[in-house]
Amino acid sequence: MRILRLLLFVFLFPVFSPVSLQAHEGMWLPHLLQQLEGRMRETGMRMSAEDIYSVNNTSLKDAVLHFGGGCTGSVISKEGLVLTNHHCGYGQIQAHSTVERHLLRDGFWAGTKADELPNPGLTVTFIRRIEDVTDIALAGVTADMSEAERQSTIDRNLNDHAPSVRREADEDIFFRPIYYGNQYLLFVTLTYRDVRLVGTPPESIGKFGADTDNWVWPRHTGDFSLFRIYAGPDNRPADYSPDNRPYDPVHHLPVSLGGVKEGDFTLVYGFPGRTQQYLPASAVAMTLESVNPPRIAIRDTALHILDRAMRADEKTRLQYASKYARIANAWKKWIGENQGLTQTRAVWKKKSLEAEFRERVESDPRYHSLLEELDSIVATVTPYEVAAQYHNEIILRTVEIFTPARWLQTLAARYAENGEKGYADYLPRVRSALAGFYKDYRPDLDKEVFVALMQLYAQEGDPRLAHPIIFQSFAGDGAVQMASTLYSGTLADAARTLALLDLSPEALTNAVQADPVIGLYEQLQSHYKREVGQPLARWQDEMDQRMRRYMAAQMEAFPDQPYYPDANGTLRVTFGQVEGYQPEGRPRYECQTWLSGVIEKYVPGDYEFDVPARLRELEERKDYGPYGEGDRMPVCFIGSNHTTGGNSGSPAMDADGHLIGLNFDRVWEGTMSDLNFDPSICRNIMVDARYILFIIDKFAGARHIVDEMTLVNTRR
Ligand code: ARG
Ligand code: GLU
Repeated sequence: MRILRLLLFVFLFPVFSPVSLQAHEGMWLPHLLQQLEGRMRETGMRMSAEDIYSVNNTSLKDAVLHFGGGCTGSVISKEGLVLTNHHCGYGQIQAHSTVERHLLRDGFWAGTKADELPNPGLTVTFIRRIEDVTDIALAGVTADMSEAERQSTIDRNLNDHAPSVRREADEDIFFRPIYYGNQYLLFVTLTYRDVRLVGTPPESIGKFGADTDNWVWPRHTGDFSLFRIYAGPDNRPADYSPDNRPYDPVHHLPVSLGGVKEGDFTLVYGFPGRTQQYLPASAVAMTLESVNPPRIAIRDTALHILDRAMRADEKTRLQYASKYARIANAWKKWIGENQGLTQTRAVWKKKSLEAEFRERVESDPRYHSLLEELDSIVATVTPYEVAAQYHNEIILRTVEIFTPARWLQTLAARYAENGEKGYADYLPRVRSALAGFYKDYRPDLDKEVFVALMQLYAQEGDPRLAHPIIFQSFAGDGAVQMASTLYSGTLADAARTLALLDLSPEALTNAVQADPVIGLYEQLQSHYKREVGQPLARWQDEMDQRMRRYMAAQMEAFPDQPYYPDANGTLRVTFGQVEGYQPEGRPRYECQTWLSGVIEKYVPGDYEFDVPARLRELEERKDYGPYGEGDRMPVCFIGSNHTTGGNSGSPAMDADGHLIGLNFDRVWEGTMSDLNFDPSICRNIMVDARYILFIIDKFAGARHIVDEMTLVNTRR
């Protein structure tokens, strides 16, 4: 009897906590935090919701910014100093690097404001205000409308509303659906356009451990860089000018010297990009079983070939370092995602939830067959989703020779559509893109990747959906033969390709039409669009409509659960605690790493694990200044905050809103939090604020930058 009850309990437990929303799951909308204030205080917070987000008063949100559109940053001095990740500022740091002045390798610290380096095109955006505009957006929308009618009604409503939104002349607005279009939000934003590089550690600190340690805990990376916002005379946004002045912020985050202890409250404030928490079990199973395996296998194949070449030749290593990092980042994330989904039985958990959902809505005709419909759409789209992976991964992302093909094809199309003028306008872009491409291109290496991936495509691709030429011409030796033709042609040769740009538009058009690589690319693209892309988009529409209803249905069926919208690149708050974890089959991981661990990983001369001499000396002398903890120097720590891509560079704050860390990654198995957050293994990784201060002050001797900040120490 007892065993039976126990079994019942074990079986029913997940059903009784339906959305299984645990301690620290959630990417919360900052303007709705009142509802969570109690829970946040129970977790240790000493602030109010109003301290975090307020329209009328200064709040933490005024120090948080969208950095360059894809990352997050925060203001950490009264002179507009911005903290973000090294990997977020990477493009700018690289752009300023030359052989004589190698910022990536040596680091950079502006001695005075005059030394700070401008970055054309780089912007930072603050959120001024968020408002719920659901009633306005959905006015006149009825249940029996077609999707197209519904969308055009909403678009019209929001367009009509836009001019009446209260804002300053230099502020922008945009609208975003949340909960699959059940609700709509308005964002009023302010974007600064003069953002200068102030400081960065060398790669051997900022990218320490590189791809081997990426997504991995224990971690020892000082992944930070510093920028400064400049403003016009009125402190408002202005184009770059030497006369601009450092931005005087509404709020800047004090930086804590107090450090972190297991169990401490943490709040991460930033711009998470995309999550899908509310999908049915069948869709999660599709990602786990059908979508992730082929894309992992494709990237695996390419990475092996690139790795061998990069290890054999230093020039190749430099040429391919950033391409390799890009391919490896998502590859590794998907592997971890699958491990985590399996280990936490995410699909099973979702299924038990759905059983409960079915019971609750059984008698409701609106939702009655909803899950069956969703499951059947998922079953239908699965082969299309898989076919999309093969095409996108191989043709669009990994085989490089299709990149110049795309540029030249577009140039010829501009000429066909807009004549001489269209051609002339577009030509400079193509010229600089191609020059950049060929600088880091090794055709022999790309040929090897091409052969391996096309063979894989011919072997594993779906003959019903992929172009027949894949199976006819690229199986086995076919790929080798095709490659020797294609890679002895124009596009494999930088000089010959760039020479095309000196031809007349007609002659270029003729060359484009005759080129075998461009011909192959066009065939594959148009076949893909017709056979896979278009049906997939139609099914995606069907899926979205039902997800909108399923989302609403979940909220009705489980009304006691707190809900948060999926990440969509808008400002969110996540909170949690400093917290270690127990990976499967390994000893428990502590929540903090130390500089001694950097030294343990040190491999002299290695491109991932070299350590600067100065840093080794400081560790040897235990010369940590005021930043160490006893006889150790903290480096990184982990917490149970729910984050995703886009949260890179997000400030991590303590119970009082002081900066204690800088978010930059998640632990490997925890990357499944994009589909199903599980508090047992989902952890975010942060650089300890004390390590950042130590590197600036003790390692780089840039004490003047630390002096700008407001340092606090509440622990002592
Ligand atoms: N995994 C982190 C993110 O998704 C860091 C990526 C940059 N580092 C790298 N080795 N690729 O952005
Ligand atoms: N590195 C990621 C980024 O660039 C953050 C890590 C994550 O995905 O959580 O946003």
